[in-house]
Amino acid sequence: METVVVTHPIVQARLTVMRDERSSNAEFRAALRELATLLVYEATRELAVADVPVTTPVAPTTGTAIANPPLLVPVLRAGLGMAEAAFNLLPESQMGFVGLARDEQTHVPHPYMASLPASLAGRPVIVLDPMLATGGSLKHCLELLHERGATDVTVLCALAAPEGVQLIAESGLAGRLFVASVDERLNENAYIVPGLGDAGDRQFGPR
Ligand code: URA
Repeated sequence: METVVVTHPIVQARLTVMRDERSSNAEFRAALRELATLLVYEATRELAVADVPVTTPVAPTTGTAIANPPLLVPVLRAGLGMAEAAFNLLPESQMGFVGLARDEQTHVPHPYMASLPASLAGRPVIVLDPMLATGGSLKHCLELLHERGATDVTVLCALAAPEGVQLIAESGLAGRLFVASVDERLNENAYIVPGLGDAGDRQFGPR
């Protein structure tokens, strides 16, 4: 799996706001939104485009359209905080949803929802999930996408642990991963270290 660590100064500054334990839920959400915008921008450089005729107030010319808009797939609940940013940059795209809750004892993902088109053959897919920790949830999500014929899958994460990156790489399921940082490791509770805590709780408040 190709892994791109996005080292842009604005990405790293927003990630630092997200890491800071003093950031409020609102500050965390704003930083994630902006970071997601920049990750989408980086990850879509190679999107297929088509020439389209356009007439300016001065003269007719040729413009650009997104030829094959991607399906955006936020992984609930934490991926919700990246969804609006991605939709704003790609208003011609569609959105599917995968819902996964992690068992706090076993750290095994528990799927509770998949709302996806029946066929994803020939369609680029962008998965939005701020945290790639053990990789279990993302692997499950990628399996759902591949069962539906997806072959062009890009994953956008704020943070990853080396263990999760390795699991996804070994699964052979994701084409590319864009991430702001690959941190040191997972702790005994499968939290990323130094990480930023629970990305769902940091956005929406504790359950
Ligand atoms: N999920 C989170 O929200 N945070 C972690 O550190 C690991 C998984």
